[in-house]
Amino acid sequence: MPTTVLGIESSCDETAASVVDTDGRVYSNIVASQIATHAPYGGVVPELASRAHLTSIVPVLEAALREADRKIDAVAVTCGPGLVGALLIGIQSARAFAMARSLPLVGVNHLDGHLLAANLKFDESETAAPEYPFVALLVSGGHTALYRVDDPLTRSVLGQTRDDAAGEAFDKVAKLMGLGYPGGPVIDRLAAEGDADAHDFPMPMLHRKDHDFSFSGLKTAVARHVAAQPTRDDKATADIAASFQRSLVEVLARKSIRACKAEGVKQLVLGGGVAANRGLRARVLELAKPAGVHVHVPPIVACTDNAAMIAYAGALRFDALGAEPFSVFSRDPARVRGRFRPDGTLIPRRKPGAAKAP
Ligand code: KG4
Ligand code: ZN
Repeated sequence: MPTTVLGIESSCDETAASVVDTDGRVYSNIVASQIATHAPYGGVVPELASRAHLTSIVPVLEAALREADRKIDAVAVTCGPGLVGALLIGIQSARAFAMARSLPLVGVNHLDGHLLAANLKFDESETAAPEYPFVALLVSGGHTALYRVDDPLTRSVLGQTRDDAAGEAFDKVAKLMGLGYPGGPVIDRLAAEGDADAHDFPMPMLHRKDHDFSFSGLKTAVARHVAAQPTRDDKATADIAASFQRSLVEVLARKSIRACKAEGVKQLVLGGGVAANRGLRARVLELAKPAGVHVHVPPIVACTDNAAMIAYAGALRFDALGAEPFSVFSRDPARVRGRFRPDGTLIPRRKPGAAKAP
């Protein structure tokens, strides 16, 4: 009998609850979006996110349980990375529910959820789940990285962004062009009408051998162009959107296929909100074919933040390890580089020229 898990997600600006089993079957998937709350600010305001989670969490939970209408074996909740104030709403709600029903509680890394989302089955149509090992391109508002996933509990970072996440670049470019928030879907739509050859924006880090990314230079190039031509008609706006998207997509797509080749892996999974981008999906599929790489692109509801992916990752984790204690964290403890140690503790900055700590 598969284990059935209630998943709860509140790491950023979506309050979500879902019931899923270890086979990936989704029995309910409820998402309350806060886009309208944050849109006037052009980005997520942490304090407002926490307040909105508090308002939505009980109705969202009730709806997910009502729709699934089945016995729950365990509760899984996102414990990081994310906004700590937002995470705590989901964690405390999950804890309260688990205590009231005497159920085990599992903490799930949000990124593991995104990486496993391609295994979810939302309807009866059976699409082949990715085989392990696979390479995953995780591109969202907060994260951009390439992973090697050996099994549901083992992943390693192959490369990651050194500055902005891809979704952040979409959002910032949309903001500086006055296109509203979130920027990804608007630019995706405009890019379909524009000429991607209109502007020669940079494709950062494309020719470097590593699997890292950088998008702040591309964003600055667009910002300079926009500042130099403050008035534009619809055609000019669409051309900028298409050219920007092409540069960003080309880097993501080519480096993803290159990572598959370097790892000797024939399966590529896309995940995160930016994986909804039509230009990215098309370009990855185009490059994958001659490389003999099979691409798994989850449905859009599984790409953007949701609790089904958390319930599924939690179900697999619970089956393998049981309900272990967990703590809340704002940054991914599994980052291989950066200013955080693998256990999530901060590495103090060294002054230039100062001796290295023993
Ligand atoms: O995964 P997600 O829902 O939340 C995070 O964990 O960040 O991703 C949200 C991000 C936003 O930056 C949004 O602009 C971007 O995904 N996004 C897109 C598209 N749909 C959402 N970016 C490009 N094209 C899209 N169609
Ligand atoms: Zn996410």
